Amino acid sequence: AANPIVDQLARPMRDLRISVTDRCNFRCAYCMPKEFFGDDYAFMPKEKLLSWEEITRLAGLYATLGIRKIRLTGGEPLLRRGLPELIRMLSSIRGIEDIGCTTNGLLLGQQAQNLYDAGLRRINVSLDALDPDLFGRINGRGVTSNTILRNIDLASEIGLQVKINMVVQKDVNEQEILPMADYFKKRGITLCFIEFMDAGNTNGWSLKKVVTKKEIWERLGGADALVPVQPRYPGEVAKRFRYKDGQAEVGIISSVSEAFCSSCTRVRLSSDGKMYTCLFASKGFDLRALLRGGASDEELLAAIRKTWEQRGDRYSEERTEHTAKNFNKIGMSYIGG
Ligand code: GTP
Ligand code: 5AD
Ligand code: SF4
Ligand code: SF4
Repeated sequence: AANPIVDQLARPMRDLRISVTDRCNFRCAYCMPKEFFGDDYAFMPKEKLLSWEEITRLAGLYATLGIRKIRLTGGEPLLRRGLPELIRMLSSIRGIEDIGCTTNGLLLGQQAQNLYDAGLRRINVSLDALDPDLFGRINGRGVTSNTILRNIDLASEIGLQVKINMVVQKDVNEQEILPMADYFKKRGITLCFIEFMDAGNTNGWSLKKVVTKKEIWERLGGADALVPVQPRYPGEVAKRFRYKDGQAEVGIISSVSEAFCSSCTRVRLSSDGKMYTCLFASKGFDLRALLRGGASDEELLAAIRKTWEQRGDRYSEERTEHTAKNFNKIGMSYIGG
């Protein structure tokens, strides 16, 4: 294997997040507001998407540069046909120890078994509320929480390890923090609360809409109810806690109130083959052009290496109301969180 590489802030490259589609069957206002993602929205045409072979080739090269974890994202990754085949192909790459997938769960009922059979073992399901009406409004499509909860049960029964992500927004779903916590605690499923972020340019973010890690922790009962758990590895995104009176864990992802850029080892690949060194980047490096131009593995490796070595991103540590409004950033639905 090639020498491990580090960026300008001495951060190695460890996790690769691969977006397989920019489409989604939900319209969460903080990610794909209907006004911007309407019926006439121009999604990526098929020929611009990387094929499974192209993704697998790139992932293999990333593995030689230090990538150990892969996460499949979207948009909604289960919307892309044949995802189990990609999982099979990625599973055979030397050096890859963990493959996960982040989904809204709507298609899990149909697909969980095929994903499991292909080798997937971990899945993160986004769910922002239990209240059926509220959840229907948040996802913009009137899908009820029961549908997702049923699919979560089914996925667990099949053997997938499920984690839940909840984006917390002030005055929108903060009243759901405790009901969600209770529900998943009873089932022994880890729930991760995510501070609302200024992703993309159209999600209506302001600091006032953030419920901070500290507030979430206090609502859960603070030190009386929760014991901190040591991170599994340096730079783990969620701060994890164990309930004093139960088996389950909760996590809090404090991207706004306590940024974690200094240990950020994540690199992102968009569905059209661009390499992004930050969730809040405005520009990516076009690997697809190289791939389709007939580049050799050595040429591709050199390009990836150079892009990472030049990386100085630390957006969340520098975030202000000003950068949130005036910085051109790629969107969540495009790069998958
Ligand atoms: P695990 O492998 O289960 O630890 O997954 P994960 O937490 O890395 O993945 P997931 O997609 O569930 O991430 C949860 C959310 O945390 C993301 O979707 C983002 O909202 C946020 N997040 C993850 N990585 C970053 C990051 O590098 N920067 C920022 N600002 N937020 C991130
Ligand atoms: N802030 C925080 N989390 C977000 N996600 C999408 N948009 C935002 C945002 N603005 C979450 C999704 C999903 C994960 C991929 O990122 O709900 O759980
Ligand atoms: Fe779809 Fe997830 Fe974005 Fe909601 S947050 S619109 S489910 S990609
Ligand atoms: Fe990493 Fe950028 Fe997120 Fe900071 S803001 S943790 S550098 S992806």
